[in-house]
This record gives sequence, structure tokens and C-alpha cells, in this order.
Amino acid sequence: MRLFKTVAGLRTYLASVRENQTIGLVPTMGALHEGHISLIRRAMSEVDRVVVSIFVNPLQFSPQEDLAKYPRQLETDAQLCEQLGVAAIFAPTPDEMGINSTSEPSTQVIPPAQMLSVLCGPFRPGHFQGVATIVTKLLTIVEPNMAYFGEKDGQQLAIIRRLVKDLNLPVVIKGCPIIREPSGLAYSSRNQYLTATQQQEAIALYKGLQAAKQAFITGERETQALISCVKEQLTSHSAIEVQYIECVHAQTLEPLDTIEETGLLAIAAYIGSTRLIDNIILRVR
Ligand code: PAJ
Repeated sequence: MRLFKTVAGLRTYLASVRENQTIGLVPTMGALHEGHISLIRRAMSEVDRVVVSIFVNPLQFSPQEDLAKYPRQLETDAQLCEQLGVAAIFAPTPDEMGINSTSEPSTQVIPPAQMLSVLCGPFRPGHFQGVATIVTKLLTIVEPNMAYFGEKDGQQLAIIRRLVKDLNLPVVIKGCPIIREPSGLAYSSRNQYLTATQQQEAIALYKGLQAAKQAFITGERETQALISCVKEQLTSHSAIEVQYIECVHAQTLEPLDTIEETGLLAIAAYIGSTRLIDNIILRVR
């Protein structure tokens, strides 16, 4: 496996494989867990060479967020990637990506306002602009045939699909299902911040979403009723402070009163100072 820290080095390597091999990109911020591994395995099964990018992107953290304490473990991540058969890791510095602490890159990718007005958008101003900018840069640097993203970040996935379409980027975006611990808690790099007791509490997020799914299966289509199902499961958990529970169209992110095709039912909540997100997709068959 190769490890590249510069754009030029990675590009030279990719130029030599591109002619007769397909390339898959798995963008990450590192601290790799089962969720990331599932994306890498999926990519391994669909393309010839998998590139994993590991970059804790300053553009998507606000000043109050956890940029400084975000887990960084490049050596462990590299070992894991090697075992999985990854062809190359791209782990640039912020400087190499044209980002330094004093100035933003001059060009930013701004997602459509309506996709920012729901779910995490209002609570994380600038976040999806930072994600869209860095993902565009990564796709332009690597020029992969396919790029892999998790449904765990449902709003992020919808925004990336939209930017690829709007900017005519020649890449196929693959959405991959949420991987959960046996308890139901979705894997997240931020789970490391939780104490054992908080991890137990956090399971209620999944239970709430499951309760809504049951109601949906038995015919409930009104989003307010589905949201109430989630809330009910959370009432006995005073340690959980809900930021939002919303149901939107999974692709357009348009708020829904009734699910007619596909709804993305999503939750964000604080447990102590840790912010967790989770969601389920509800599909009318
Ligand atoms: P990060 O949080 O490291 O996640 C990298 C990818 O792994 C994302 O596509 C995310 O949706 C996926 N992922 C995380 N947890 C998952 C889980 N439990 N099951 C399935 N997939 C999961 O998301 C980012 O980084 C950044 O915003 C990035 C896209 C790299 C841009 O900086």
C-alpha cells in the first residue's frame, strides 16, 4: 500500500494505474471504524484500486466544534487499510489542501439553500459548504470512477449527489447502508467520547427510529406521528437532549408532511457534550 501526503505524488501514481484500472475513492476523516470499513469493502468489490483519503477537514468544523480534539490515528488507520487491501491512502496536511488557519480557500462550493435549511443545516452553519468544498477538491484530485459515502450522513450524501450532478463531475456516487454496533448504536468516530453509561443511553436514538419504522410498516405515513414515535422512546432518557427530529425527502431533502415515496427520518441529539446523528430511510413499496 502507498501513502501519499501530496497531491502531486498521488496524481503521478494514479496516472500510472488509470489507463487500464478503475479507481474508487472512500473519503474519510480517519479514526476508522466498522462504518468506514464497510465502505472500503464495498469499494474493493467494485473497483480495481481503492484510494482512502484521511483528512480532518477544518472547513467543516465551526470554531466551537471539536476540530482540535477530533481523533487522529494515522498509523492505526494505515495498518487497517493495508490489511483490507487498499491501494493508496491520501493523507494531506491542511496546507497541502490549500487550507490554513488564517484564510479560507478563495473558491467555495455552496450547496443549494433549500438543502441547508433542514436537519443539521441550521445548527451547523458553514458545515456543508466545507464538506462540499473538500469533497469537490478530493474528487478533482483523485478523479475516481466511483466514490463511496455512508447513509449515516444522509444529508451529506444527498448534498454530494446534488453537487456531482450540478457540477457535471464524472463520478458515480455510491451510498452505503449504516453499520451499527450489536446494540443498534450507529458506529461513529465520536462514540469514543461517550462514557459506558452514555453509550447505553445513546441506544435510545436507534430504538426511537425503530419504533417509528414499526409504525410506518403498519401503515403510518404522517411524518408528525412518526416523529412522535421517536420522541416517546426518548422521554425516559433525560441524558439525551434532542436537537431535531425531522422527516424529509431522501434525495431533495424537502420537508415532508406525508411520506409518499421515500422519507429520511433523522435525529440529532446531544449526550453530554457529544453530538450524535442517526437516521432511517422509510420507503413505500
Ligand atoms: P467521516 O465522518 O470520517 O465519514 C466518512 C464516511 O463514512 C462518510 O461517508 C460517512 O457517512 C461514512 N460512515 C460513518 N459512519 C458510518 C456508519 N456507521 N455506517 C456507514 N457509513 C458510515 O463524513 C465525513 O467523514 C466527512 O464529512 C467527509 C465526507 C470525509 C468530508 O470531509
